[in-house]
Amino acid sequence: MKTYLVTGGAGFIGSNFVIHMLSSYNDVKIVNLDKLTYAGNLENLKGVENNGNHVFVQGDICDKELVGRLFTEYDFDYVINFAAESHVDRSIKEPEVFASTNVLGTVTLLNAAKSAWEKDGVWKEGAKFLQVSTDEVYGSLGDTGYFMETTPLDPHSPYSSSKAGADMMVKAYADTFKMPVNITRCSNNYGPYQFPEKLIPLIINNCLNKRPLPVYGDGLNVRDWLYVVDHCKAIDMVARNGRLGEVYNVGGHNERTNIHIVKTIIAYLNENVDETITEDLIKYVEDRKGHDRRYGIDPTKIREELGWEPETMYEDGIKLTIQWYLDNKDWMDHITSGSYQEYYEKMYSGR
Ligand code: NAD
Ligand code: DAU
Repeated sequence: MKTYLVTGGAGFIGSNFVIHMLSSYNDVKIVNLDKLTYAGNLENLKGVENNGNHVFVQGDICDKELVGRLFTEYDFDYVINFAAESHVDRSIKEPEVFASTNVLGTVTLLNAAKSAWEKDGVWKEGAKFLQVSTDEVYGSLGDTGYFMETTPLDPHSPYSSSKAGADMMVKAYADTFKMPVNITRCSNNYGPYQFPEKLIPLIINNCLNKRPLPVYGDGLNVRDWLYVVDHCKAIDMVARNGRLGEVYNVGGHNERTNIHIVKTIIAYLNENVDETITEDLIKYVEDRKGHDRRYGIDPTKIREELGWEPETMYEDGIKLTIQWYLDNKDWMDHITSGSYQEYYEKMYSGR
């Protein structure tokens, strides 16, 4: 039995990871530490609530005492750190919590792992700290080229800067203390359970409510999309077999402009739900400040070293995803009631 501390496991990618791991392995125990911020949602974990190998703990990764106690109680083999403030637009309006959770929270986890796993310079056999990072730490690409693991970090938003800060602290613990770590840097994920502040679920929800579809700037910024379960499989492979101290980029060469994504969603909903959902709903709005133009991952290293390949092609994954939100209207209704409307007004009114 291997015991994992998964942080942020009630969020989008974390919950998909917990579900993936518990449905793939019987010899994995997961302690899921999540603060349940606006982005954390226990409904995401309904499928594993009766699974004896899953323990949910509501708490903050910045809480030293709690994190230390969990290490003593569970003797973890792995830490997979998903917990973060994850939305770029929020980071532009309120950067402080990004520095706190993303940087200081990561340091709190690193310290607890070091205390539990290292005795006189010798580390617990097989233990590993995996930091779930992002391609945004590399900054922005022009029309050509890809992010490699050797690309210098050049983050622009408070979000990506806080993630780069966390990456540097993880590297520092590896370099200074020889801590066993990996860092993964993945491109944009899509799939079930994504909070509707992010492009794809936001556009789906707005279409269904006949709200304007806000497209920032000229709509030609490019993101490299990966189905979330493929990301989860990559994290599992890196945790098990990644070379210690290494960074692995994760992406599937699926670059699309934002306007292409928006039009794809409209076309699907127009054909399958309501023919009054049309491109007339598109509204070009003021651009995001410091908006990165293009992201594109070179996944050669993870493919060649670990044999990882994306399994869900974009054309299938996007349909699966739209249909998932149609089939889970209750999930969307619950998440968009309450403070979501306030958030939406604050972000989009006057734009
Ligand atoms: P999310 O916002 O959906 O989920 C974040 C989770 O972390 C939530 O459940 C939230 O409650 C929890 N959390 C926040 N602050 C916490 C704290 N202080 N203590 C404990 N829990 C806390 O985010 P996501 O999209 O699932 O992203 C997960 C991770 O993957 C993040 O580290 C993000 O930087 C990284 N990432 C995301 C993407 C993407 O496309 N979404 C791509 C690459 C990397
Ligand atoms: O690249 C990985 C990153 O992808 C992760 O590290 C982040 O946690 C995740 O949020 C995501 O960041 P993005 O900023 O790329 O995702 P978002 O869904 O916010 O935006 C995708 C693109 O769509 C971006 O170019 C901005 C644009 N956009 C977004 C929203 C919310 C719009 O045009 N309109 C919108 O309303």
